[in-house]
Amino acid sequence: MSLSIIILAAGQGTRMRSSLPKILHPLAGRSLLEHVYIAATRLDVRDIHVVYGFGGDEIIESLSHLDVKWVEQAQQLGTGHAVAQAIDAVPDADNVLILYGDVPLITYETLADLVQAAEETGFSLLTSYIDDPRGYGRIVRDKKGDIEAIVEEKDATEEQRNICEINTGMMTVQASRLKQWLKQLDNNNAQAEYYLTDVIKMASDENVSINSINPDSAVEIQGVNNRQQLAELERYYQLIQAHHLMNEGVTLMDPQRFDLRGDLEAGRDVVIDINAVFEGSVSIGNDVSIGPNCYIRNADIGDNVTINANTVIDNAVIGSRSVIGPFARVRPDTRLAEDVHIGNFVEIKKSEIGQGSKINHLSYVGDSEVGKKTNIGAGTITCNYDGANKHKTVIGDDVFVGSDTQLVAPVTVANGVTIAAGTTVTKDVAENMLTISRTDQKSIKGWKRPKKK
Ligand code: UD1
Ligand code: CA
Repeated sequence: MSLSIIILAAGQGTRMRSSLPKILHPLAGRSLLEHVYIAATRLDVRDIHVVYGFGGDEIIESLSHLDVKWVEQAQQLGTGHAVAQAIDAVPDADNVLILYGDVPLITYETLADLVQAAEETGFSLLTSYIDDPRGYGRIVRDKKGDIEAIVEEKDATEEQRNICEINTGMMTVQASRLKQWLKQLDNNNAQAEYYLTDVIKMASDENVSINSINPDSAVEIQGVNNRQQLAELERYYQLIQAHHLMNEGVTLMDPQRFDLRGDLEAGRDVVIDINAVFEGSVSIGNDVSIGPNCYIRNADIGDNVTINANTVIDNAVIGSRSVIGPFARVRPDTRLAEDVHIGNFVEIKKSEIGQGSKINHLSYVGDSEVGKKTNIGAGTITCNYDGANKHKTVIGDDVFVGSDTQLVAPVTVANGVTIAAGTTVTKDVAENMLTISRTDQKSIKGWKRPKKK
């Protein structure tokens, strides 16, 4: 049987107190809705319909990479009304899985079980037993233990409120029947809403037996209503990711102080010290050590690399055996070959640095090409910007750039050149030359320092 999915995401999320629609808030670098989408797409699914309301344009624009059908629910008249907006586009013969854009940690495994549970009777419901059921719809069972209804908290009797089995909202229902039941919904209840949960009683009245299953973990059914709940799920998710990496052979000095907002692939014997933040897509080779407080985003890091404390790497390739930092900043479009050393307070932008070259102290290298085994001394600056345009600096192999050199781009320094300290290089330098621009040193004998009056 084919499966269609409807994700409800029209709620405003008032308690987030945000101008960003709730389902766009990020958890581990991905929007809440995207987490649900990723779990959903692992199922064999025909179409995913997302019912949106508040913040429509912004949602569709920022999630345009998702393969979903957007359905507007202009007024939020209840969960049943929300499903009704999307149901006409679902073929009668399908099963429909209902999910929620603000319940991000539902797993593929639970969803697969839920879909499977509907294969027999045409109706499955994800329920959970919790100590404090306040706020949730309660599952009402008959004497035989079969589900006969869901009552919302606000409509429940004193006795029903004591029921600890709650409705997570997630269910799989045979589409043609769901279409019939949705037509029969009314809003004669405490909240004057069209409750999706009322279809449970309709199904039970028609002797459709409702197959219930439970999630493995309570976090799977937790919704995000405020920033505190968002932070709780974030920490939980980060710990899961940390455990996964440790199982793959990564040492985390403290799994509580590790954050991955995207995807990280790491080889063997990678050691990551505290407060590392990884964003986007990062791959790390074998035997890499990453010091404390590093921020690494969209990077490809080779084997045996050492990244020392407080280093920032953004959109860069780091060759094997390179040593970076402490306090280095490697900016976008940088490629370091193997055995490169980038030291403290060095900024590299949009540059290629050849094998074995060293830029160890206090330098800015931007829009440059540096050859192999070149040494760039402390305080070297590539003057790449003339106030209007950026220009390129090319430095060959085996070049010695003395400390405090300025290279005024565009400029080319050929292989084997020696640049004396303090030189301002404004013209190209041919192979193996010494270049120096420096006023002669003068020393004055018997110089008297001024005295304070
Ligand atoms: C709902 C269930 C309740 C369940 C709880 C689990 C109903 C009537 N009640 O209650 O049994 O225990 O979820 O969290 O279904 N939404 C729309 N359009 C609407 C209304 C809601 O898209 O018109 C979306 C919201 O964005 C949200 C979800 O549906 O993601 C649930 O809506 P909410 O109003 O929070 O339902 P609850 O009262 O929590
Ligand atoms: Ca809710």
